[in-house]
Amino acid sequence: MSASPRAKEIAAVTGATGAIGFAIAAQLAEQGFHVVLVSRNLEKCSQSVEKIKNITGNNNVRFEIADLSKQTSIQSLAASWTGPLHVLVNNAAISPPKRLETTEGIELQFATNVLGYFWMTKFFSPLLIESSPARVVNVSSYWAGGLDAKDLEFKNRIYHNHESYRQSKQANRMLTPIFSSILEHSGVTVNSCHPGDVNSSLSNSLGFGGSQSPAEGAETPTWLASSEAVRDVTGKYFERKEETVCPFSSDLSKARQLYEICQTYT
Ligand SMILES: NC(=O)c1ccc[n+]([C@@H]2O[C@H](COP(=O)([O-])OP(=O)(O)OC[C@H]3O[C@@H](n4cnc5c(N)ncnc54)[C@H](OP(=O)(O)O)[C@@H]3O)[C@@H](O)[C@H]2O)c1
Repeated sequence: MSASPRAKEIAAVTGATGAIGFAIAAQLAEQGFHVVLVSRNLEKCSQSVEKIKNITGNNNVRFEIADLSKQTSIQSLAASWTGPLHVLVNNAAISPPKRLETTEGIELQFATNVLGYFWMTKFFSPLLIESSPARVVNVSSYWAGGLDAKDLEFKNRIYHNHESYRQSKQANRMLTPIFSSILEHSGVTVNSCHPGDVNSSLSNSLGFGGSQSPAEGAETPTWLASSEAVRDVTGKYFERKEETVCPFSSDLSKARQLYEICQTYT
């Protein structure tokens, strides 16, 4: 195990039973972080924890069950959390072929991919501030765009899963500088990134395979979560560990408008 200067700090990774999330959790555990996998399937969580412990020799790995498409579930998770939180990696996402709604009546992809990140950051912000220096990493994508602030849930447009997905990844990138400015001077940084192109349930549901391994796909998010090189960087978007111009972050008034819309779901 190669110890990072942040070894023994606590990192939560959402969607850590999936391809990229598992690899991020494993890489952080490899560096000595105490890692909490946050996902929805008990059996997958339990197996993933054991696998990471075996691969890394780090026994400080555990899981928490949450449905990240539901505000109530995220609020309960935040309320029952014990101890500090130094790193939050928002990574869980889904892209069902047909338009589905959560039991709270929200289009599932918007609820999971956008509001899931929003609620995790919002409800864990007090703890992140208390635990600071701390970091939030939003796993987004370079495949992003087409956001319609008037129809985020595809009520007036025909739903295509790739359009809802691209919109959700644009939203992740737009909300990053907003949370970064809200958390300015608190010791909490917020950045977003494209991971890599990896074969996964998600990429398959969007009609893609993937040319990179999960470990390669996890490199940039893990680096943002742990590297001293980006300790004080906030509000930025990264690809291949390089700060990259994000066209969606240039108009902060549109990003603020999106933030306010997300607030109405709280
Ligand atoms: N794969 C790529 O090529 C690629 C490219 C660009 C960006 N990304 C981004 O990378 C991230 C990870 O994607 P991936 O390819 O690793 O996907 P994945 O293998 O399908 O993993 C998705 C994870 O999210 C979890 N999840 C989905 N809905 C949830 C919910 N309601 N509550 C709790 N957990 C939930 C899944 O849990 P279950 O195991 O229970 O389903 C799984 O652990 C996503 O944000 C995606 O947008 C991926």
